[in-house]
Amino acid sequence: MIGKATVVAPANIAFIKYWGTRDWNQTLPFNPSVSMTLRECVTRTTVEIVDRTEGDAVFLRTKEGSLAPATEAFTRRVEPHLERLRGWAGEEISFRVATENSFPMGAGMASSASGFAALTLAVVTALGRQVSSEEASVLARLSGSGSASRSVLGGYVKWPAGEGPEEEHATQLAPAEHWDLRDVVAVLQEQAKEVSSREGHERAPSSPYFEPRQKLLPRRLEIVTQAILERDFSALAQTVEEEAIDLHLIAMSSHPPIFYWRPGTLEVLAAIRRLRQEGVEVCATMDAGANVHMICTPESETAVADEVGAIPEVSSLIHDGVGQGPRIVDEHLG
Ligand code: DP6
Repeated sequence: MIGKATVVAPANIAFIKYWGTRDWNQTLPFNPSVSMTLRECVTRTTVEIVDRTEGDAVFLRTKEGSLAPATEAFTRRVEPHLERLRGWAGEEISFRVATENSFPMGAGMASSASGFAALTLAVVTALGRQVSSEEASVLARLSGSGSASRSVLGGYVKWPAGEGPEEEHATQLAPAEHWDLRDVVAVLQEQAKEVSSREGHERAPSSPYFEPRQKLLPRRLEIVTQAILERDFSALAQTVEEEAIDLHLIAMSSHPPIFYWRPGTLEVLAAIRRLRQEGVEVCATMDAGANVHMICTPESETAVADEVGAIPEVSSLIHDGVGQGPRIVDEHLG
């Protein structure tokens, strides 16, 4: 047993969204999803194996650089996964966990995919074990954050659904080097979203548009996969934007409804349509939140940032792009 390990794992942005959970015990989705792994938005997590009698402890790195005990809500989310990983390891141990995000926690960016991927792999590494990417994806998925199953891989990633054992884990469609796409994030909401993804997944099937979307997805999956493999931006753009709008259509028509958008979201979407008319290669996608991820080619990045950065509701821009999967590093947190 190594005893202590640190892993940096990336966030990801979905082109085809996981929205609706078929099986909560196993965290299995109603539909397949496809995402791009990010480069800059990452979580760094250090796990130290300690004596069972010490109990688990979770710390967050503050802006000032010191470690502070995590909030109760944060610990409540992490603890069941530590328990699961302890069961998987089959050892009577406790974990001392310290974690930090490269992106501001308050920026309303999803951090659970990178967070649970980093935590899972740091525990595995601290135990001195080695797992395949398939097993890492399964373990990360079981955290309850399904999108974490995609964050254990770099580049362009697919998580299948309803395909027997294949749906248990994500697989890589293409490595990061295949296509240099960028993601400029327009931050509109500083605080965390009011309704969690979990709540959204639970309510999704109550929308009258849930079933119609399921019927559209096989074709969308085909188009997005092909567009990635052929680096066809215009084919990708149209479907990615349709998909994002459908997720929010379903959220807004769920019982009770969920409104993630802010007025600024519509401003940004209008700016993107304008840019596209001018020939700029860009499309929008939004997760369960108000922030808009603007997927674009490297040549379009400056035009996108200039236009959207000038919108008063946009508090900041995060420049990101396709990246590699998780990596083990030597710089421990605490
Ligand atoms: C809208 O259940 O993985 O981002 O708890 O926020 O990690 P978190 O969410 P999870 O659902 C992700 C929902 C989504 C779409 C997607 O990433 O596929």
